[in-house]
Amino acid sequence: MYDYSNKTVFVSGGTSGINLGIAHAFAKAGARVAVMSRKQEKVDAAVEALKARGGDAIGYAADVRDYTAVDAAFKDVASRFGTLDVLISGAAGNFPSPAMGISPNGFKSVVDIDLLGTFHVVRAAFPYLTKPGASVINISAPQAWIPMDFQMHVCAAKAGVDMVTRVAALEWGAVGIRINSIAPGPIEGTEGMKRLAPNERANELITQSVPLGCYGTTDDIAEAAMWLSSPMARYITGVVLPVDGGWSLGGVSAMSMGLKKAMGG
Ligand code: COA
Ligand code: NAP
Repeated sequence: MYDYSNKTVFVSGGTSGINLGIAHAFAKAGARVAVMSRKQEKVDAAVEALKARGGDAIGYAADVRDYTAVDAAFKDVASRFGTLDVLISGAAGNFPSPAMGISPNGFKSVVDIDLLGTFHVVRAAFPYLTKPGASVINISAPQAWIPMDFQMHVCAAKAGVDMVTRVAALEWGAVGIRINSIAPGPIEGTEGMKRLAPNERANELITQSVPLGCYGTTDDIAEAAMWLSSPMARYITGVVLPVDGGWSLGGVSAMSMGLKKAMGG
């Protein structure tokens, strides 16, 4: 349905789960795809799988907390693939813990990966984004605007991510760059949900709290990313788009209580 041939797409954290699903969807639609994450073996496996789609792919082993490494990856990809038409910033970390169980370093780790990492990625990418025309998507979460038990660090970090989106939209509209957030709901088979719903009871409670009555898939998020990056969404910038089956409509009662019960609280 979408044609991304001759387009370059960069996905940070693009070596597993939701972000790898997004990378595959763009590769299938003809794009040259670059992925970046910490572990070389995950990067190699993702690049191999993306190349098997028939297109060009490249990978970088880098930690989004390391600005120098992130900057070097963008320089390199631009020299090989040209300017970037689509940037997805999706690297993140999460673990469920009551606030008093999170050490200062635990809080800092998540904020540094999610929020500072997002700033590093969008800042380092900016010189290489196609102007006008590039689309940037930061991967957020409903925790960004809904307080959730055991998620103080993630709520704080993702709220910041959405402010990066909104402020950049204000500043970068003038050069023709759109930037939005996608906030996935519970997505089946992902590392994130393995951590937040570690057993069958937790899965049931989460499913019951989604108005559409089921988990989402990585394809659901990839479809939204492809649409949001396409000319069909040319007048959309600075939004936070929930792709969550209506999960976040239930607010604190659905999300926070579901997670609390799931965690035995
Ligand atoms: N509960 C409480 N604290 C925890 C924790 C948990 N389940 N898991 C990690 N931490 C704390 C550690 O104890 C450490 O704090 P300390 O130094 O005071 O002991 C701090 O978090 C950093 O841990 P470390 O493993 O050194 O960090 P890291 O930078 O290597 O990894 C994480 C970051 C913790 C987020 C790790 O889980 C990760 O790499 N996640 C990526 C994958 C992921 O989360 N996917 C889901 C995305 S939604
Ligand atoms: P995932 O598979 O663990 O994806 C995280 C990716 O980020 C991996 O590729 C990981 O690879 C990389 N990464 C982690 N820390 C990094 C760092 N410091 N530097 C560079 N890369 C790093 O998790 P997921 O569940 O699919 O989540 C993907 C995104 O969706 C995240 O932004 C998450 O917050 C968001 N989200 C997920 C859900 C859900 O239901 N799963 C719901 C809402 C929002 P390495 O280990 O190799 O670094």
